[in-house]
Amino acid sequence: MNAIVNPTAKPVQASFPVRRMGFKFQDVPRYWAGNDAGITHFLTSLSVLFPEGEGFFVDSVRAVRNHPELLADQAMQKEISAFIGQEAMHSKEHEAFNASAKLYGYEVEKMERSTKTVITSITRLFQPFVKKEFIDLAGTCALEHFTATIAAQLLRRHDIQDLMQDPTMLQLWLWHAVEENEHKAVCYDVYQRIYGKNVATYAMRATAMAAAMVVLFFVQNYFMFRLMKQDGKAAPRHWLRAVRTLYGPKGFISQIIPELLDYFRPGFHPNDHDTVALLAKWTHQLGLNDPAYSPARKAA
Ligand SMILES: [Fe+2]
Ligand SMILES: [Fe+2]
Repeated sequence: MNAIVNPTAKPVQASFPVRRMGFKFQDVPRYWAGNDAGITHFLTSLSVLFPEGEGFFVDSVRAVRNHPELLADQAMQKEISAFIGQEAMHSKEHEAFNASAKLYGYEVEKMERSTKTVITSITRLFQPFVKKEFIDLAGTCALEHFTATIAAQLLRRHDIQDLMQDPTMLQLWLWHAVEENEHKAVCYDVYQRIYGKNVATYAMRATAMAAAMVVLFFVQNYFMFRLMKQDGKAAPRHWLRAVRTLYGPKGFISQIIPELLDYFRPGFHPNDHDTVALLAKWTHQLGLNDPAYSPARKAA
């Protein structure tokens, strides 16, 4: 029997767009955050993780998108495509920024390669016990909660925004922060649709989060140390302001710990952390609804 086609039916669209930004980083100063080596290198060490890290997210979701649970769901397929599109754009822009940081003598390419090695090694540790797709998706869900949480804090806190005195870098991080919150539930929804809500899937995602927290802490701090060393700023006095900014009572990291730990709650869902009003404010303020950023969506 032929399917009944309704010619007036609107095509299904993702709930968020893929934007093409095209930042130019050639004028970014050496210390573009807080005019401070430690704060700048903390953020650069995160940026170094993104090209390979977000490539891993894309591969994880792409590997399962043809699962029978998802295949017929057009809306979910659109969400997945938009998720892949946004993460690909983040990788591209951060790769461009990372390349510009090379001009100051930092070995960012080596760190990007190390990121890939770490991801491959950690996921291989689990492979004798669990299917690769399951591990990768659980890891992506955990890391997506990380990025969405840290991103939401950046959107909320003016003191952190004020540290980014270079306008291009501020735009880059705010755009990325908006999109991390736009797509924060996609991978988690895919995970639950395929594997369900049960003790095994909870155990896998909780294990992935515990591993992600430990690995990320060590890798990011190691990269920050390498950047500080390459910059001739390895001495403890150069770290003081960054350590206070990150781990002090109102620290960028210390303030997000409760929200990060909420991931271990059995009934957790990314949308439990409501960022709808925050997103409306920032998409408007950054002009991200401009169709020039999303020509494909305009044409659809
Ligand atoms: Fe991203
Ligand atoms: Fe993401």
